Amino acid sequence: MKNSHRKKQDYTIHLLSLLLLLLLQLTVVFPSLAKEITETSLGEKIFQTHCAGCHPNGSNIIRRGKNLKLKALKRYGYDSPEAIIQIVTQGKNNMSAFGNRLTEDEIKAVAEYVLTQAKNNWKS
Ligand code: HEC
Repeated sequence: MKNSHRKKQDYTIHLLSLLLLLLLQLTVVFPSLAKEITETSLGEKIFQTHCAGCHPNGSNIIRRGKNLKLKALKRYGYDSPEAIIQIVTQGKNNMSAFGNRLTEDEIKAVAEYVLTQAKNNWKS
């Protein structure tokens, strides 16, 4: 009788520690997941609002060759976040500058979105 009681207690403690461990893991996994999701959607939102007019689906309706596909980005030296941040901030020829319309964080997010999309061949 006494013995079986102890066994039950042991089992409960074991279960509790497992639950605690699970909780701990969830708090570690979820914030980073949430951060990833919000960052992607911020960049995508900015792109749809400010860039898609001239660059629908990564193209360029004004200067066709200067599109946002990986090949063109590489050819013209825009295959890094820094270079994209620079052209978005200062503009170039027929592309307007966004430095006074978007925050630094927004420009960074949209630059990362462009690069991710280019690497995905604008498939998603
Ligand atoms: C008014 C139309 C227009 C808008 C809006 C626009 N762009 Fe552009 N974009 C251009 C043109 C035109 C070029 C080519 C500039 C040149 O080299 O003469 C260009 C070039 C680029 C390039 C370099 C591509 C290459 O292959 O050389 C990147 C990167 C880029 N744009 C990103 C963006 C992003 C990100 C946004 C939104 C924040 C944006 N553009 C908004 C017209 C636009």
